[in-house]
Amino acid sequence: MSYKTKEWRNSMRVTLDYNNMMDTFLGDKGFTQKKLSSYASRAAKAFRYVKENRGKDELYMGWTELPYNQKEIVADILETARKIRSKFQYFVVLGIGGSALGPIMAFNALCHLHYNDLPKNKRKGPKFYVEDNVDPVRMRDLLDVIDPAKTCFNVVSKSGATSETMTQYLIILDLLKKAGVNVKENVIFTTDANKGNLKKISDECGGIKSYILPDGVGGRFSQLCPVGLLPAAVVGIDIKGLLAGAAYMDYLCHTPTMRKNPALMSAVLQIAAMEEGKNVGVMMPYSDNLKTLADWYCQLWAESLGKNETLDGQPCNVGQTPVKSLGVTDQHSQVQLYTEGPFDKVVTFLSLKKYACEMPIPHGCENIPDVAFLGGHTMEELIQAENAATAYALTKAGRMNYTLWLPELNAFTLGQLLFLFEMQTAYAGAMLNINTFNQPGVEEGKKATFALLGKAGYAEKKKELDSLPAKDENCII
Ligand code: PA5
Repeated sequence: MSYKTKEWRNSMRVTLDYNNMMDTFLGDKGFTQKKLSSYASRAAKAFRYVKENRGKDELYMGWTELPYNQKEIVADILETARKIRSKFQYFVVLGIGGSALGPIMAFNALCHLHYNDLPKNKRKGPKFYVEDNVDPVRMRDLLDVIDPAKTCFNVVSKSGATSETMTQYLIILDLLKKAGVNVKENVIFTTDANKGNLKKISDECGGIKSYILPDGVGGRFSQLCPVGLLPAAVVGIDIKGLLAGAAYMDYLCHTPTMRKNPALMSAVLQIAAMEEGKNVGVMMPYSDNLKTLADWYCQLWAESLGKNETLDGQPCNVGQTPVKSLGVTDQHSQVQLYTEGPFDKVVTFLSLKKYACEMPIPHGCENIPDVAFLGGHTMEELIQAENAATAYALTKAGRMNYTLWLPELNAFTLGQLLFLFEMQTAYAGAMLNINTFNQPGVEEGKKATFALLGKAGYAEKKKELDSLPAKDENCII
């Protein structure tokens, strides 16, 4: 690994502190060391399963190799991003689910929180938007603030058959045609190498610039391939740093000894908690920059683990409901529930040892002690104190919580965090003996949508929908 020095990398190590899951701090509400040890062999088995199958496209585990196998792609992306920056005023990602949450997350994490409002000379790239819905109002409002002719559209879809993304594509295609713009000039696809509709469209247009969403990489594991890397590079994020961070976390997770492998330990903590009825996993970053990382994590955890069948075909209905919560904002909204409500949650704090800036709190209001005590501190001290205080209050109330500590937020530490969560999810799925990488449960809704919009081949599904009993008016009040 050549990313900076070994000392620097070690100083940027993301660490896991799970003291507040243990009986030492939670009394009889916490795990004993013996209880955790009882998971060691199951954890080691999950570790072996992931190790033996990593990189296998047929199992959708190609994502494990992304930190290592993209040298040429990264060079191409950096060159394309440079051209996009010099040519376009706007960059719009059209995608949904795994094709959108990663780009949103990295932009939020590593760019200025008001990036699009900055003057051009203070931004590293064009104005940036990720459109992951088909709310007509949102599309109208986007079109009010961009000029399609000056916009690079990155259409991200593995299948090219996702109604939401393809609807957006049809709209912008029409607008580009009306503006007399050759679609090849303003559109980049990120899609499957061989199959899918974007491939067909590209071939028909004589070749639209296309990046590959590799075969063995599912949407929610795709942030570290061109799905996430191109948008990140366009806004000036250090994508080599992201990949180096992921590789470093991979190295930290090289052992089957769960007490030395942060992703494996995190999986064990969550599974052990789930098996004690903690059906809700709260992801609570104390950083506005990490707010959408919680959204990304929620998809990863929910879609991967929410399954009704084991790998041996046994019925199971497993999973844990992930909930996003922002510190300190949600202290004033949800923490009451976390502290005094049902004992059904595990809270994961994402905490920063150092924020990107300090904001001194000036002295003032000297005659009002309730306010005056704040003067002379910094906002960094305040948010860190509130983070520590919330962890303390939860622990005192017997509520399981643990913390992932980032020395600071940068591309390298973000890359570590992403890879840690991906490995944690793979280990947890293996411990539950389920297929972590499919999502059959979202298909039924897609088919019903096709039927309602008259897609060919869905007549039977339409009949099924039409045969539902009439609504009981008494149930509509
Ligand atoms: O995680 C997933 O696989 C999904 O969220 C997909 O990313 C999402 O459904 C979009 O699919 P596609 O890339 O085919 O448009």
